[in-house]
Amino acid sequence: ISLKPYNTFGIDVKAKYFAEAKSEQDLAQIFNDPLSKTQKLLILGGGSNMLFTQDFDGLVIKIGIEGIEYEVFGDKVSVTAGAGVIWNDLVNFCVSNDFAGIENLSLIPGTVGASPIQNIGAYGVELKDVFASCSAYEIATGKIKSFDFNDCKFGYRDSVFKNEFKNQYIITKVLFNLSKKAKLQTHYGAITTELANRHIEEPTITDVSRVVADIRVSKLPDPKTIGNAGSFFKNPVIDKSQFEELIAKFPDVVNYPAPNHKIKLAAGWLIEQCGFKGVVVGETGTWKNQALVLVNHGKATGQEVYNFSEHIIDTIRAKFGVLLEREVNIL
Ligand code: FAD
Ligand code: EPU
Repeated sequence: ISLKPYNTFGIDVKAKYFAEAKSEQDLAQIFNDPLSKTQKLLILGGGSNMLFTQDFDGLVIKIGIEGIEYEVFGDKVSVTAGAGVIWNDLVNFCVSNDFAGIENLSLIPGTVGASPIQNIGAYGVELKDVFASCSAYEIATGKIKSFDFNDCKFGYRDSVFKNEFKNQYIITKVLFNLSKKAKLQTHYGAITTELANRHIEEPTITDVSRVVADIRVSKLPDPKTIGNAGSFFKNPVIDKSQFEELIAKFPDVVNYPAPNHKIKLAAGWLIEQCGFKGVVVGETGTWKNQALVLVNHGKATGQEVYNFSEHIIDTIRAKFGVLLEREVNIL
């Protein structure tokens, strides 16, 4: 089957086998089939953080486990969502019920089940700030295991599921700690500016959600019309000595403090400085409003996008001595 409708880059590759799991029982059934033991596996949510460079010679399992439930204890709200719930549907559900905590993560594409994998983040909030635990199907044993905050070893765009537990678990549901009393995070520059532009002095979570959504629409291409997977690279984190050399040569380099006395650079700035913002290279290129986003102008192959990303990495390394790492999963 063609995976084109199942990845936001809109890359036209095929999968040998495809199954959808709407429950933990469906997963058990899929893995009871001897075929599942002989095939390479790919767990897929919304396909919004994937670049397919070739056909997938194995079994794709799309996670479609639905359902949102919640319990209120005083000011605290415990929300549980199925892995297949669309992330932004969960955000809208919470914002409309006045459950605070994920409003800054409005409009991030993809599913709830993928949210812990790279610890999604935007506009000053990361998934880890609201994550309580998740349940996951262990592929080797068929058991459902629970992972709490510490088990997940969250970092910037990172978790245990991208490292030691890679390809071993399928997240089936996620539990969030939200609150009826909003602790708004409006310190991210673009939010502060936009709230001021709108003369909103005492924002509600609905205001924050709208402002974030509007900023995102102005900067990021909509995958429905132009294929992409959001930021293609991570913002590089470098140590102080390297940063001091860099800023001596490039006084305008956009930077933020990171944990452990390190410094995070804006990859979009580095890429723009190399003249890549809004370039069109065959069927691929970078987005005109955000150089960190690689796009598919319609007929790009995954290999073409990948080759262009190699060219960007080489150019940034040569100019700044900084190594960009891909955020998007390459297959
Ligand atoms: P997929 O792309 O389907 O999968 C991603 C990875 O997770 C794969 O390795 C897959 O195998 C694994 N996976 C998926 N579901 C499960 C599961 N249930 N159990 C185990 N493994 C699983 N990300 C941000 O962090 N911040 C942003 O601001 C942001 N903006 C974006 C903007 C755009 C326009 C786009 C297209 C993407 C953006 N992203 C952003 C990236 C993307 O939205 C996130 O990575 C999202 O979490 C991916 O969800 P998905 O369901 O599409 O995952
Ligand atoms: N910049 C440029 N040129 C560009 C793009 C950015 O100079 O073409 C500079 C600007 O100075 C800007 C700064 O970079 O102020 C930061 O840009 P932006 O606010 O757009 O955020 P980002 O660092 O490029 C990160 C995340 C996004 C997330 C936003 C908002 C990563 C890899 N990306 O992007 O996440 O939405 O912050 O918090 O950390 C994603 O992961 O897919 C994603 C979109």
